[in-house]
Amino acid sequence: MPVSININGVITAAEDAKISVFDHGLLFGDSVYETLRTYNGKPFLFSRHFARLEHSAGGIDLQLPWTRSQTMDEIRRTLLSVGPTDRISSVHRFAASSEPAGPPPPPSVECRIRLLITRGIGEVSADTETCTDPAAIIIVVPLIAPPARIYSDGVDVVVSSVCRSGRFADIKTGSLIHQVIARREANAKGAYEAIMLTGEDKLSDGITSNIYMVRDGKLLTPARGAAIVEGITRRVVLDLAREMGLDVVEGFFDIADIARADEMFLTSTTREVVPIARVEGAPVGSGKPGPVTLMLFEAYRSAIDRLAGED
Ligand code: PDD
Repeated sequence: MPVSININGVITAAEDAKISVFDHGLLFGDSVYETLRTYNGKPFLFSRHFARLEHSAGGIDLQLPWTRSQTMDEIRRTLLSVGPTDRISSVHRFAASSEPAGPPPPPSVECRIRLLITRGIGEVSADTETCTDPAAIIIVVPLIAPPARIYSDGVDVVVSSVCRSGRFADIKTGSLIHQVIARREANAKGAYEAIMLTGEDKLSDGITSNIYMVRDGKLLTPARGAAIVEGITRRVVLDLAREMGLDVVEGFFDIADIARADEMFLTSTTREVVPIARVEGAPVGSGKPGPVTLMLFEAYRSAIDRLAGED
């Protein structure tokens, strides 16, 4: 799989990309990150992702080594180093469920970008004073399109036994053991995602997604105080929902609210808007992607070109 890595401005192939075993990103998960994607080869909503990276870095008192424009330049350089002929042809924007079946879509150039800043090399001690320069790492891999059936049929989701903790919940750090364990639980049950709860048993996020319910025509989603990551996709979807005249409630919800939902879906940068068909095996509403979910899915797809004009 063609991959390109940039470490502190040096672009290498995956097999040549090396960081020190004394980097605190490895030793302590002491790092911040963003996951971006491209549309038509261009990083999508970069400024919003960079603003969230700054927020995350501020939350753990980590100095970002690159400015916003340096970061964008480095991402562009790294993307360019994945030559067009290297890019795999099976990667394409997935077909919307409403699109007629036909020949496979043309090859595309879409990539997934992991931007990661670690605390840097230090002693084997949690003391950050021992760390020298932070390492800036960009990992570019082809974006494998999610299978079309997740959009047409919806996905199975379970409720994780792992909680999202309050203090660092909205900071995207490399300390991701909660997500790792939740992912293992979801895999063990054959589920596509797992919903995580707060310490107070309120609905929070998916493992790497935001979650939503539709009830009586209202769109309900866990509030910022419910230990969520404020998703870039979430903000777009909530704006679109309000523009469509939907009532949006950002609040605190219980597991019992799931049984009362007419529809559910999740959002993330790489997956956009994905209907949830069942939670712990019980159908959500009709067990099929509902009308509000489909409307927001279509609205999101339609908004991409306009939003791609943003820096
Ligand atoms: N995750 N909630 C959590 C806990 C997340 O990790 C993510 C993103 C989101 C959705 O955010 P966005 O819409 O900005 O992608 C919500 C990325 C994809 C990741 O961990 O790689």
